[in-house]
Amino acid sequence: MKHFINLKDISSKDLRRILVDAKKRKKLRNKLSTLEVDKGAPLKGKMLVQMFEKASSRTRISFYLAIKQLGGGTLTLRSNELHLGQGGESIADTAKILSTYGDGFMLRTDNDSKVENFKKYLSIPIINGLSPSSHPTQVLSDVFTVEEIKKKPISKLNICWIGDSNNVLDSLIAASVKFSFKLSIGCPKKFQPGKEVRNWVKKNNKKIYIYNDAKKAALGADVIFSDKVISLNDRVNKKNKIKYFKKFKINKELMSYAKKNCIFLHCLPRGNEVEDQIFLGKNSHVWQQALNRVHVQKSILLYCFGKLR
Ligand code: CP
Ligand code: NVA
Repeated sequence: MKHFINLKDISSKDLRRILVDAKKRKKLRNKLSTLEVDKGAPLKGKMLVQMFEKASSRTRISFYLAIKQLGGGTLTLRSNELHLGQGGESIADTAKILSTYGDGFMLRTDNDSKVENFKKYLSIPIINGLSPSSHPTQVLSDVFTVEEIKKKPISKLNICWIGDSNNVLDSLIAASVKFSFKLSIGCPKKFQPGKEVRNWVKKNNKKIYIYNDAKKAALGADVIFSDKVISLNDRVNKKNKIKYFKKFKINKELMSYAKKNCIFLHCLPRGNEVEDQIFLGKNSHVWQQALNRVHVQKSILLYCFGKLR
């Protein structure tokens, strides 16, 4: 049984296998409509339980479509409607029940140890649908999108992140090690990646480039990523934090430091970190990026269910 919790814990080979499968499957769906099932219905009869402790639009809908297109079904829960969320039932008992009724479990939570606790008691695979430390399904799908648009392995590209050091960036850093690409990060000093993640990169004999100047980070970039300054789990003084990011806004001037054909990606939802002119501009591929989550998550599900071709 394979879990999908953190890109750091999955081998480069398996991550690549997932992307190769997603590419083949996406191509084969050219003529199929949204809810038509892939040939062979590889997850026929399987049920994915999704549980959200925080808001979600894309993850919720894309996992729904992903399992449907593989021939299975999904049930979406909010933890506050369960005995678990009301505080009356333990994770251990809830996990046993989920394993009794379902075949896979996707969890979005604001508590990393909850993911680990569920893993301990589940006898079905668990997928991390965003936690404070990671957003692995998003970032693996983003690697797919970059390679699809640039028509090159990501290892040959300069990837840049402008913004907060959050869960999405942590997963992007993990991806930079797993897929060996150059990652330049532009963020205020106060909000740069923590020691733990920097040490992990070092331990893996890799390097990330951190600049406290957005222009330096963007210089020569093939791809610029960004995300909201205030994440769902942020319990900070929001007004104060936003002030630090004034010089880290994605606008035309900043994009001019990147390569001419540099693309812009953003996982959504967005805040004020990017100007409309860029977000809705010709170099932005954010809608394709969102759609690709369906395709990559299908292959993640197959990996977890032991059915990856
Ligand atoms: N990008 C992303 O995970 O979006 P949602 O929060 O809407 O799921
Ligand atoms: N960093 C953001 C990502 C949302 C998909 C958050 O955690 O809110």
